[in-house]
Amino acid sequence: MSRDVMSRDRVAWSDARRAVRYRLEAGGVEWEIAPGRTVRGYGFNGQVPGPILEAKQGLPLEIEFTNRLPEPTVIHWHGLRIPAAMDGTEVVQRPVQPGETFTYRFTPPDAGTFWYHPHANETEQLEKGLYGALIVRAADELALDGEKILVFDDLRVDRSGRIAKFGGLMDRHNGREGNVRLINGTSEPEFAIAAGQIERWRIVNASSARYVRLSLGGHPFQIIGTDGGFIEAPVPAEKVLLPPGDRVELAVGPFAQEGDIVGIDDLPYYRGTGKKGVERFGTIRIGPRKASTARLPPRLREIAPLVTGPTSVTRTVTLGFRPSLRRGFDFVIDGERHHHDEPVNVGELQVWDVVNTTQIDHPFHLHGFFFQVLEINGQKPAFRSLEDVINVPPKGTARIAWYPDDRPGMWMYHCHILEHHAAGMMAHFEVKRP
Ligand code: C2O
Ligand code: CU
Repeated sequence: MSRDVMSRDRVAWSDARRAVRYRLEAGGVEWEIAPGRTVRGYGFNGQVPGPILEAKQGLPLEIEFTNRLPEPTVIHWHGLRIPAAMDGTEVVQRPVQPGETFTYRFTPPDAGTFWYHPHANETEQLEKGLYGALIVRAADELALDGEKILVFDDLRVDRSGRIAKFGGLMDRHNGREGNVRLINGTSEPEFAIAAGQIERWRIVNASSARYVRLSLGGHPFQIIGTDGGFIEAPVPAEKVLLPPGDRVELAVGPFAQEGDIVGIDDLPYYRGTGKKGVERFGTIRIGPRKASTARLPPRLREIAPLVTGPTSVTRTVTLGFRPSLRRGFDFVIDGERHHHDEPVNVGELQVWDVVNTTQIDHPFHLHGFFFQVLEINGQKPAFRSLEDVINVPPKGTARIAWYPDDRPGMWMYHCHILEHHAAGMMAHFEVKRP
């Protein structure tokens, strides 16, 4: 045996020892959405949401996934910049059949708040409860006085107390919104935070179609991160909009008054269709005062702009709506359902205009790469950030820039309203070495 092999083995061995390993199993579950109130759903490891997967930035992560569902599935690691073969979609792997096991192996390069969910029959599999948070921690993780992970979802329960039947043209058009509002799989739960303290809250919107316009009873908080991790500096806010698939990180608190109950609310947001009133997702109970040791740095990181000065658009992606004799209508990209888009070359900066020609909002999601938002309807965003989901307003345009680093393979983008994705508003394309 040559020395080469020896040393390579040693590297493999030491990496393997430091790898983070999980076992995930998707299967049927009795999901207790409220005390004494269960629905028959799908879960990972018997729970909804699935277990919080905690990875370390730059360390291998290994997830041995077993499918115990009565249908095939694949698991997508939403937001992670990993090799195409591990992206967990039907374009890069054969779906995992009932009873089969597939091991995902990759090294998360970025710290932040991500999530995982199936990429097969999503309108049913996610609605039934298959989703979970995936946290990638940095070596020098910013710890405030505490941390919470809140995964938002809404579920439509019918009169008999079951998850409502799927389908219908209304749902296909608007996306399915639910009548039960859940955080971490529970209807309107209560969280606690000590008066005087500041916590780091990681928030994921796992809803099929609901836009969550989050408010904490009107109390100010600070936005510290988005899809791709920290923004450059904390941004004070009283509300923040999370389209489906989106994440945000907040510094929450301090609250003054022990005993106060603060709402975790979804404020009205009109997305061209849908709800109007304020809806409650949960509450926060302010507990006995505690000293705070949290120190929120005024600068969180630098994000080098991908584009400085004038630039030309390299591609226009058109989100559209089209009547169909067979299906009533389709949602399309560049006029085509499940569009096959042109390849992009590794190393060539992409500047895309995502043009929404419809009357309703669409959350555009790019797999595997972060983008920077240059403009929405000609307006620069309030702060620079790294994103993988951006809302494209009705009859509006989002101009984004992203850089295809050397991870060739098949990738995709789509609307993260799951019913729109299913109705055709998605495309796959190749990233290839020139
Ligand atoms: Cu959450 Cu194809 O994505
Ligand atoms: Cu859409």
